[in-house]
Amino acid sequence: MPAEGEGYDVVVVANRLAVDRDGTDKDGHPRWKRSPGGLVTALEPVMQSQEGAWVGWPGSPGDAEDAVSEPFDWGGMHLVPVSLSAEEVQGFYEGFSNGTLWPLYHDVIVAPEYHRQWWEDYVAVNERFAAAAAEVAAEGAVVWVQDYQLQLVPAMLRAARPDLSIGFFNHIPFPPYEIFAQLPWRRQVLEGLLGADLLGFQRPGDAQNFLRACRRSLQLVPRQQAVEVPAADGGRRRVTARAFPISIDAAAMDELARSPEVRERARQIRADLGDPDTVVLGVDRLDYTKGIGHRIKAFAELLDDGLLRADETILVQVATPSRERVEQYRLLREDIELQVGRVNGAHGTLGHQVVQYLHHSYGREEMAALFQVADVMLVTSLRDGMNLVAKEYVAARHDERGALVLSEFTGAADELGQALHVNPHDIDGLKSAVVQAVVMGPREQRRRMRSLRRRVFEHDVQRWARDFLAALRPDVGADVGAEAV
Ligand code: ADP
Ligand code: F6P
Repeated sequence: MPAEGEGYDVVVVANRLAVDRDGTDKDGHPRWKRSPGGLVTALEPVMQSQEGAWVGWPGSPGDAEDAVSEPFDWGGMHLVPVSLSAEEVQGFYEGFSNGTLWPLYHDVIVAPEYHRQWWEDYVAVNERFAAAAAEVAAEGAVVWVQDYQLQLVPAMLRAARPDLSIGFFNHIPFPPYEIFAQLPWRRQVLEGLLGADLLGFQRPGDAQNFLRACRRSLQLVPRQQAVEVPAADGGRRRVTARAFPISIDAAAMDELARSPEVRERARQIRADLGDPDTVVLGVDRLDYTKGIGHRIKAFAELLDDGLLRADETILVQVATPSRERVEQYRLLREDIELQVGRVNGAHGTLGHQVVQYLHHSYGREEMAALFQVADVMLVTSLRDGMNLVAKEYVAARHDERGALVLSEFTGAADELGQALHVNPHDIDGLKSAVVQAVVMGPREQRRRMRSLRRRVFEHDVQRWARDFLAALRPDVGADVGAEAV
C-alpha cells in the first residue's frame, strides 16, 4: 500500500494503456499512438475528467530495447505501464486472451485452443497487474478492472488490499454456460471475478449468463442479480452482476463532425472517390467476429444481381490491423484480401475500384469525415459486446442523414431500435437491408436518425461511467464526467 495520503483514489486497470508504443523520436523520446479498440475509445474521456491513474501494458514487450517502465502523463491522464516479456505477450495476450477466451466468449466462431502453458502465463500476468494496481491505489480507493484479459485480478487484488472497492467491467459478451463450461479453468475464472464488489456487463443476458455459470459451477444461488460469497472477516459478501451498456463521448464526436476542417475533408473524400451516388462504409478491427466477409459477400451479390451498380456505388472498408501474430487473424486477412480482389476483379474498371479496402488505422478527424461521407453504414458483427462504431456513426450525423445497417448480434442493437437490424448469416436478408438503406429517402433517414441520436446522446460514456461507479461507490460516481455533461 502507498504511504498515508499517497496514491490514487480512482485506478483503472486494463490490459492496454490508452497509448501504444510507436518507436522513438529523433531526440530519443518514446513516441506514442492511440491504442486500437473500443475500450480505449470509451475510457479515455472518462479518465481525462478524473484525477485517477490508468494501469496497463504499453503494447510492446518489456524486454524490448525501447521498453518504457516508468509512469508518465499523456493526454491529461496518468499512465502506469506494466511490462510483459515477449513470452508473456505470446502466452497471455496472443494465447490465452485471444486464442482461448476471445473465441470462447464470441460464440466459438473459431475453435478456442486450450493450452496449460497459456493459462500459467495468464495467471502470472494477472498477478502482475494486481500488484501494480495495489501499489498505486490509495487507502480505500476505487479500482476498476477492465475486460476478459484480467478476470483474475479482482480476487488477487482483494486478497492483497481488502480496503479497496473493486469493480470489473467486461467489454465483450459473457457466453452461455453450455459454451463457457468448455473452459478447463472455469472455476478459477469465476472465483477471480467474484473478488469484485460489482461486475458490469454489456447486456442483461451477459450478466445472467455469468450468474448461471456461478450457479452451475460453484453452486451459488443468485438472488436479485447478486450472489453471496465468503468474506475475509468470516462473514458474507454480496457480489452484484448487472448490465451497464457502454457508450461513446457523443458530444465530442458531434463537435468534431461539425468542425469546418472535418466537413471539408468529407467533401474531399467524396470527390476523391469519384463522387459516387452511394458510399457504403465498414469500419472495424480486422477481426473474425466483425462479419466483414459476410458483408463483402452480400455487396458482391448485389452487384452480380444488378441491384447495385458498380459505377454508382462504392464500398469503403477500413480494417484496422489487429492481433496480427495470432494465426486466425492472419488467415482472416488473407481471406478478406482475396475476397476484395475478386470483387474488384469482377466489377472494377480502370481507375475505379468498387471496394476500397484500407488496412490502416486513422485519426479521429478522418473517422468523423468518413462517417459523414457514408450514405450507408454497415455493422455486420457475428457477435460483438457493444460495437461503438455504430454509435460513432450516429453521433457524427448531425445532418440527420444516412442509414445504419446493424447486426442483431451486437450489444448496440438492444439500444438502437431505429437501425435496420440484420442477421448477418442470412445473406439474402442482409442484401435486402442494404438495398433498403441505399434507397431510403431523406424523410425516413431523418426520422430514424433523430431517434438514434437521442439514444446515443442521452446514454453517453460519461453516463455509463457515472452509473457504474455510483453503483459501486456512490461518493465517487457522482463526480464522473461532471463537466462534460
Ligand atoms: P472493438 O472494441 O471490438 O474494436 P468497437 O466498435 O467497440 O470494436 O470499437 C472500435 C473503436 O476503434 C472505435 O472507436 C472505432 O472508431 C475505432 N477504430 C476502428 N477502426 C479504426 C481505424 N481503422 N482507425 C482508427 N480507429 C478505428
Ligand atoms: O473491446 C474489446 C477489446 O478486446 C479490448 O479489450 C481491446 O482493447 C480492444 O478490443 C482491442 O484489442 P487489442 O487490445 O487486442 O488490440
